[in-house]
Amino acid sequence: MKTNTSQSLLLGLILIATVVTAQSLHPHDEDIKIIDGEQYVQTPFGLMLRECVHNVPSGTHIQESEDGSIFLTNDEKNFAKRVQKSEKCQKADPTKKLEQWIDNGGWDLPANTSLSKFEAYYYVPNTPRTTNDQWLYYFIGSQNNDGSGPSVSIIQPVLSYWKGWYFQSWNCCPDGQAFNSPSIFNITPHDQVYGSVQVNKTSVNILSQNKFGEQSSLTVDRNGRNFTWIDATLEVYTISNCTDYPKGRMTYSQMNVTLNNEIEAIPQWTDSFGPSECLGKIIIEDPQTISIYHNTLRE
Ligand SMILES: *[C@@H]1O[C@H](CO)[C@@H](O)[C@H](O)[C@H]1NC(C)=O
Ligand SMILES: *[C@@H]1O[C@H](CO)[C@@H](O)[C@H](O)[C@H]1NC(C)=O
Ligand SMILES: *[C@@H]1O[C@H](CO)[C@@H](O)[C@H](O)[C@H]1NC(C)=O
Ligand SMILES: *[C@@H]1O[C@H](CO)[C@@H](O)[C@H](O)[C@H]1NC(C)=O
Ligand SMILES: *[C@@H]1O[C@H](CO)[C@@H](O)[C@H](O)[C@H]1NC(C)=O
Repeated sequence: MKTNTSQSLLLGLILIATVVTAQSLHPHDEDIKIIDGEQYVQTPFGLMLRECVHNVPSGTHIQESEDGSIFLTNDEKNFAKRVQKSEKCQKADPTKKLEQWIDNGGWDLPANTSLSKFEAYYYVPNTPRTTNDQWLYYFIGSQNNDGSGPSVSIIQPVLSYWKGWYFQSWNCCPDGQAFNSPSIFNITPHDQVYGSVQVNKTSVNILSQNKFGEQSSLTVDRNGRNFTWIDATLEVYTISNCTDYPKGRMTYSQMNVTLNNEIEAIPQWTDSFGPSECLGKIIIEDPQTISIYHNTLRE
């Protein structure tokens, strides 16, 4: 058969265009920063060494082993990997220094209880007027702040903005390593997206889902951890102008909290951070509803 040059050229161009416009499942990998010769990427836990951040297929199970290595398994996706212990990652463990949260409602669970399930709808705010290099992370989440288990673990479905909206499950940071599932896109302002963290005897599940039901999840070995603190938060990086924030509200609604005894809890949220820049404020509307405002005077 004769080759039709112009046809294959056209095909090639279409292919290139597809590659260029396809959204990366892991946007942080599109913005690698070199600092002192090392590659860093932005995460909800600050800038992390690229080699300590692991992108895994949705549904992957993360299992810590005693020697500091981590097993990743996902039978459905035919994926298995062993992440070697890394002293470099352990040394830079970001859970030792978390300081970029600006708007936050938090609650310590009642004594002698731990979390079984925490779920919420996230009302997606307006897209920021300006897109510079800002990173916005909205999430509900939980931590074992009681010292149980081998180390602090952060579990969170994170609605993110970096040049666009996406939703992704994160776990930080067994042995200094962070894990994330592929981003879910098709998220637009004023959607209700769904996030949950669920803990049973052996595992933790972190689920991010858009309004079309597209999901991305991780499971993590519980490893003796009692999740004793929950939060609903906005965390930001490299804001250069108030217009880098959405104008108006973002809302966590219909929040349900179930304790290990299967009792539904009524959270008593506290706002320990107070007002933030660009007219930022958190409003605890009721135990199931928290709104975060920027760039508006509404009470
Ligand atoms: C929690 O458990 C400890 C140890 O079992 C017990 O001493 C304490 O009274 C309990 N606290 C509450 C509030 O139930
Ligand atoms: C919380 O529970 C109520 C009552 O069961 C339910 O209608 C609501 O959808 C739940 N919230 C979420 C985020 O699923
Ligand atoms: C975790 O919680 C369970 C049940 O409430 C309790 O029996 C256990 O002692 C707790 N573990 C730690 C390390 O606090
Ligand atoms: C605990 O949750 C994991 C992951 O969501 C699931 O695979 C496992 O079957 C659950 N175990 C129990 C005892 O329910
Ligand atoms: C912030 O953005 C607004 C609107 O785009 C622009 O008019 C203003 O000059 C910017 N301010 C700074 C300090 O960059």
